[in-house]
Amino acid sequence: MSEHINFRVDGHVAELTLNRPDKLHALNVDMLHAMTEHVQEVDRNHEVRVLVITSTGDRSFCCGADIIEWAAMSPVEMWRVWIKTGSSLMNSIRALAIPVIASMNGLALGGGLELALAADIRIATTTTRVGMPEAKLGIIPGWGGTQVLKQVIGPSRTKQLIFTGEIIPAAKAGSWGLINEVVEPEEIEQRIASMAEAIAANAPIAVQATKALVDAESSRHDGPHLEGIAGALTQFTEDASAGVEAFKNKQRTNPAFHGR
Ligand code: COA
Repeated sequence: MSEHINFRVDGHVAELTLNRPDKLHALNVDMLHAMTEHVQEVDRNHEVRVLVITSTGDRSFCCGADIIEWAAMSPVEMWRVWIKTGSSLMNSIRALAIPVIASMNGLALGGGLELALAADIRIATTTTRVGMPEAKLGIIPGWGGTQVLKQVIGPSRTKQLIFTGEIIPAAKAGSWGLINEVVEPEEIEQRIASMAEAIAANAPIAVQATKALVDAESSRHDGPHLEGIAGALTQFTEDASAGVEAFKNKQRTNPAFHGR
């Protein structure tokens, strides 16, 4: 566990909070491990219907991977530990059946923007600015950034952001479809709470099925998601009852299936 990650569940809403304000919430390996464990906890807890990812303070949502930590790694450590741990965290957030909201209260840069991109909904404030400054450091966004950003804002704007490393204001990111809503800084907490409550009050299976279906084309997890839905649907067909009944009766030939 990490002293820089807070986690709580309140009713049907879980909240994962980055708490490393002196480093603008830069992510180190301990934080990645702690977040992964909490995401797994959320996945197991069927009472949780929404996950909110946020950070303390209002200066930064997350300024990316801890440059000092990764710069000291060997290429093999970078590959086996850093890229793998970060990517699998982003993938596990994306693979959650429940909706995930990023509350982007401040700067979201590099891995911080990749973290926000792992969420389904991104809410920002008028002071939020976003960017992918990796090329300024001689590297590339390594936690799925190039691929996911392209799905959200298209290839041309993705290239613009990464080629230039420019940091753009929330209003522009909103007009590009990168941010769902931009609110005043003093309003974000209330807006996130009301959105999370609205989602949590709706039928969870309908919400989760919608997430799986909307993500089906783009998500690497579409197979398991669709399989889950298809499995649950087929189990309750007349045909499945007939098939199970035939098995119980030790009938070795197929029963008549009617497509119902
Ligand atoms: N990794 C490690 N430390 C980071 C960090 C990161 N990604 N982003 C910020 N910090 C640290 C700074 O080193 C500084 O620590 P210090 O007080 O011990 O020196 C602290 O956070 C505050 O940042 P500072 O640079 O002093 O604030 P600023 O307002 O002058 O600049 C930024 C803010 C975001 C422009 C600048 O911190 C920055 O460029 N950060 C790196 C962003 C980035 O490239 N992210 C992608 C990483 S792969």
